[in-house]
Amino acid sequence: MTVNTLILGLQWGDEGKGKIVDALAETSEAVCRFQGGHNAGHTLKVDGEQKVLHLVPSGILHPSVHCVLGNGLVISLPALEKEIVELEQSGINFDGRFYVSGDCSLILPTHIAIDQVRDKSEGIGTTGRGIGPAYEDKVARRAIRFGDLQDWQALQPRLEKLIAYHNKVLVHLYDVDPVPLETVIDELRAHQHLFQKFHCATQTLLRGWVKENKKIIFEGAQGSMLDIDHGTYPYVTSSSTTAGGLSTGLGVGPKHIGSILGITKAYTTRVGEGPFATELFDENAAQLAKIGHEVGATTGRPRRCGWLDLKALETIVFINSVTSLCLTKLDVLDGFKEIKVCTDYDDDGSPIYTTLPGWEQDISGIKEFDALPKSAQDYILFIEDFLESSIDIVSVGPSRDQTIYRN
Ligand code: IMP
Repeated sequence: MTVNTLILGLQWGDEGKGKIVDALAETSEAVCRFQGGHNAGHTLKVDGEQKVLHLVPSGILHPSVHCVLGNGLVISLPALEKEIVELEQSGINFDGRFYVSGDCSLILPTHIAIDQVRDKSEGIGTTGRGIGPAYEDKVARRAIRFGDLQDWQALQPRLEKLIAYHNKVLVHLYDVDPVPLETVIDELRAHQHLFQKFHCATQTLLRGWVKENKKIIFEGAQGSMLDIDHGTYPYVTSSSTTAGGLSTGLGVGPKHIGSILGITKAYTTRVGEGPFATELFDENAAQLAKIGHEVGATTGRPRRCGWLDLKALETIVFINSVTSLCLTKLDVLDGFKEIKVCTDYDDDGSPIYTTLPGWEQDISGIKEFDALPKSAQDYILFIEDFLESSIDIVSVGPSRDQTIYRN
């Protein structure tokens, strides 16, 4: 049985994956991402200091852990550079332990321009980072990939053609200014050193690690309900955020995944537009947002808040073959007299709730399941029972030590 673990968010992102990946990375040899781009925002609190990672895997904070950006990502070179520089400034070393697949598609300035102007009319509420347009070019087989930076002679005519196409879209479809070709070329040239330093045939690297039985964490970004196929389409991101994305996004087959840890908040949040059955608009929503600091890590937008949707999670647990669950931000529910969970929908698709008693006490310092108030234990057991999957980790605060390990 392989020792590798896939860690996925089961909702609309922001489940607190970063903290859990960071904690589990301590005993792992590598952390690898397989999809998305710098639309992700993994917030970690380490030694009292808050860090937000957008592209670099959360394992980077551990000096002996290797980190990989797999072929399934879309990468903005300036965003990558910025993040590396900031982390290096706080003493983190990337040398010889950070690898970027040559097959990653690049996010170009034109992708960002198209994303931002288009979302004004389409209203998905994207992060405006160029993610969707970059994935479009990947699927349309015209993307510029990280490995293309190796051969500028071959790249130049493809780039000219692609930017001309993007500018047609910008000028004729959206009536905005074009992005000069030189801007795009200058940006790529200015980051050529990233290619020299970090370019890697990551599929081969991963195959070697798997054969050597290295302990690997596969780190999902966003959440399952934002999956391009299984999410709340069209209000989704443009990548496969569910378990299937790992094999295509890193070149590692399913039998090399040992366990699949699904992360869910003890309630639900969503940034951006789209359906959200259990969304609240009352004082409970305000309380969840305030106590849970529910503001988007990437865009700073307020997150929409609501009760936990077990009915939706039931499907998501199946899609991902979740083998164990992690419940985060349970402490945010500390002040509630009653807590609702959606256990079904009526014929109109409105949620049918089961009401459970709250615990009305501070649990943020509790380290063991048995020390939790009875109704907090019951809340955990109810979820576990409904989803038929054990909750092995419970997070009761942002710091590494505010974590209850059950199994
Ligand atoms: P895009 O990924 O920028 O195209 O945005 C598509 C949708 O996914 C929008 O609703 C975003 O708010 C949402 N989204 C993208 N990345 C994240 C994330 O890391 N956390 C939460 N929502 C996200």
